[in-house]
Amino acid sequence: MPPKLVRTTSVRLASLGVGFALVGATVVFAVIYAGTLGALRTTLDTNINNEIAEILIDGSRTPQPIVLANVRTAIAAPPRDIFYLLADAHGRVQAADLSVPIPRPGWHTLTAAAGREFAPHIRVLRGRADRLASGDVLFVAADATMLEQLDALIRRSFLIGFGVTLAIGLAGGIGFGRRALARVEAVSTAGQEIMAGDFTRRIPLSGSGDEFDHLASVINAMLARIEQLLGNIRAVGDEIAHDLRSPLARLRESLELLHRNPDPALVPAALADAIAQVDATLALAAAILRLAQIEGGARRASFARVDLTRLLEDLAETYETVAEDADVRLTATIAPDLALNGDAALLTQMIANLIENAITHGGSGSTITVTARQDDAVIELIIADDGPGIPPSRHGEALRRFGRLDASRATEGHGLGLPLAAAIATLHEASFNLGTARRDAARPGLAVTIRLWSRRPC
Ligand SMILES: Nc1ncnc2c1ncn2[C@@H]1O[C@H](COP(=O)(O)OP(=O)(O)O)[C@@H](O)[C@H]1O
Ligand SMILES: [Mg+2]
Repeated sequence: MPPKLVRTTSVRLASLGVGFALVGATVVFAVIYAGTLGALRTTLDTNINNEIAEILIDGSRTPQPIVLANVRTAIAAPPRDIFYLLADAHGRVQAADLSVPIPRPGWHTLTAAAGREFAPHIRVLRGRADRLASGDVLFVAADATMLEQLDALIRRSFLIGFGVTLAIGLAGGIGFGRRALARVEAVSTAGQEIMAGDFTRRIPLSGSGDEFDHLASVINAMLARIEQLLGNIRAVGDEIAHDLRSPLARLRESLELLHRNPDPALVPAALADAIAQVDATLALAAAILRLAQIEGGARRASFARVDLTRLLEDLAETYETVAEDADVRLTATIAPDLALNGDAALLTQMIANLIENAITHGGSGSTITVTARQDDAVIELIIADDGPGIPPSRHGEALRRFGRLDASRATEGHGLGLPLAAAIATLHEASFNLGTARRDAARPGLAVTIRLWSRRPC
């Protein structure tokens, strides 16, 4: 057995199990052995003692002629499963129906040598020899073939049982050990490939649903999360590089223009413009970082009770004037006492992004409705408008970072509003769905539905 296999927990457990099973088997066999053989031998011995008692009516002092007569009578009478031998003090046989060397006094179990018999068909005997007062030796024995066969049978069964238990136990242990080892091997191979840089690698599942599968799926889920986080980090790097380039290029352009044409009259306006561009760039960088931070889940630690009703009412009030300026109507229907566990600043940002989108992309003359109500443990929040909406086939694109559907880029923005809002919803374990708000094909509007878990009373 390979040493690695011997060290596996399964093989060790199997060996331990086999050990206990063997101890158990030994005890059971010992009890059976003593019980059956002991009982049989006692019966045999009792029969022999009774027989001797009948022959020696006065014990060892019974007169020799009576003993001889009794032995002869016994030999003549059936049944023939008890055998007798009477020999005088000189070893001369006087009466016998078996041929054995004269035994010494006491109990004997005798087995005939190969090819020999003590009496017709009798090869095993158990009997008692007594020396009488006259010097004669009386030996009375019974056929002990059964006794011996049973003895051999029990010993053989014991050895077979012992061997089979040992073989099955060890084979099972080795089999399980091999399987366990193969599964562990798969985990370490996957681990090594992942360490070598293949983050898409996963641990294969056997499909049996056992502990290894459970462990593997937990590790796989962990790997998927790590892969996602790594992807985020990479994407954030790319995005920052990509997206900060255009505003910086624009800034550089205006500064160069100023440099080439340093007209003092234009300087203050140009500087104000440059500052605005730098601010916009900083805001963009902050938004990218915040998105990464939210997707990383780090903000969950700062969760607290949020009074959503108040938060929504405040936001509606704030945006009412903003909307009015853009010729947009904002109405809010907010149920009282909505509360949840979350990050108030992020929830404000999420809702603000959606209202701002509705104002910006819904166009002037549109109406925005903010609805919040609770059904059991779920708070349903819908921000809808009656603008052009987003066709369902483009929802994915709109939710992607920097995804903007307005090809002409007529509106302000970086395409981070929706992904940020969706990430905040995910952080709160809420569902986030885009849909149409109305049946009107020309202006279907956009309805964003967010279902949040209300704060459970504790
Ligand atoms: N309420 C809306 N109505 C129509 N289109 C919208 C709406 N909200 C978002 N969109 C579309 O989805 C795109 C992505 O939105 P967002 O991520 O907020 O980016 P941004 O607003 O900066 O363009 C927008 O550019 C716009 O084309
Ligand atoms: Mg937006």
